[in-house]
Amino acid sequence: MGKHSIAVIKGDGIGVDVVDEALKVLHALAGRHGIEWDFVEFPWSSDYYFEHDEMMPSDGVEQLRGLDAIFLGAVGHPEVQDHITLNGLLLPIRRAFDQYACVRPSVLLPGVDSPLKDVKPYDIDLVVVRENTEGEYANVGGFQYQDFPGEVAVQSSVFTRKGCERVIRYAFELARERRKKMHVTSITKSNAQGYGMVLWDRTFDAVKDEYPDITTDSLLIDAACMDFIRRPENFDVVVASNLFGDILTDIGAIITGSMGLASSANLDPTRISPSMFEPTHGSAPDIAGMGIANPMAQILTSALMLDHLGEDGAAADVRSAVENLLEEGETLTPDLGGSSTTMAVGDAIAALVS
Ligand code: NAD
Ligand code: IPM
Ligand code: MN
Repeated sequence: MGKHSIAVIKGDGIGVDVVDEALKVLHALAGRHGIEWDFVEFPWSSDYYFEHDEMMPSDGVEQLRGLDAIFLGAVGHPEVQDHITLNGLLLPIRRAFDQYACVRPSVLLPGVDSPLKDVKPYDIDLVVVRENTEGEYANVGGFQYQDFPGEVAVQSSVFTRKGCERVIRYAFELARERRKKMHVTSITKSNAQGYGMVLWDRTFDAVKDEYPDITTDSLLIDAACMDFIRRPENFDVVVASNLFGDILTDIGAIITGSMGLASSANLDPTRISPSMFEPTHGSAPDIAGMGIANPMAQILTSALMLDHLGEDGAAADVRSAVENLLEEGETLTPDLGGSSTTMAVGDAIAALVS
């Protein structure tokens, strides 16, 4: 239906392979949906770092600003410390573009085995809304007496009322839009984190009064981790701080089959800045270069990008192609019990949407 300019950052490890497959799918559906893609590739990655001593140029964020969306694979290299690669590329983009709502759905789809017993397709159908710009990821702190025996590191969390309120409100709006259980669960650790997370709890209590049609509960993160395993069917929309949302979404991924199915969107709901679409998983160095990474997480992430771009029909086609392949069970990567390659899965999905 429209023309979309998309920044493509494949990144590291399996990020490169799965983005290639997702681009194949996006090209394949263009004709049927009248979409004109303008993909602009940025080589920013750990390889770029080895050559330039930085993950992206100092005006990197400015180079991305004018584009409609950012499509990213994964960042992280076994030979570079993660705090350098991630604080040099991924995290500054999330912050600079105020992508405050990180939306991560976990749905148990037909044809997929969960490691949990007695769960049927769609018993698990939840979405975690992760605060994505502040909290434990605020990157405020420092070292003192570095490399001396008395070394001190300070790592501060930053919670603002505005920051809590906007992401909590987003979660309530999403519960309304989903029309499923009409329920929002808030996750904190305010029994031990007596300032920032108490502000979060107070803000949640204030916002929930504006949504009388939505039921709520509040859980501590430790109990929430247990309940994601014990009774995942009880969750609908879950809103959590940056770090807790990060941890919970790996659990959400594995109880619904694989990291290789877990999609994610870093949204600036105001649309002032471009949003960024990258799966929940990382660069998976343990399987990088083997051609067996599951590209479905990246491909389902492209469906989230299509939603954001207003390409609803194309997004629906991508989802049903993935669902068909899962149900048929013939063309699956090893994480889902199959023996197909990354490329074979990408080709099969591209064929289904073209
Ligand atoms: P990971 O998500 O890369 O891998 C965890 C496990 O899941 C591994 O066993 C891996 O093989 C498996 N896995 C992940 N994606 C898969 C896929 N598509 N198909 C099949 N199996 C898949 O997490 P990690 O090993 O903790 O991190 C590796 C690197 O990635 C680190 O440098 C980390 O910082 C980085 N990382 C980056 C992002 C990102 O860029 N968004 C996200 C998470 C981790
Ligand atoms: C994720 C990742 C990142 C995060 C890392 C790589 C910084 O784990 O997107 O889930 O914690 O946000
Ligand atoms: Mn994570």
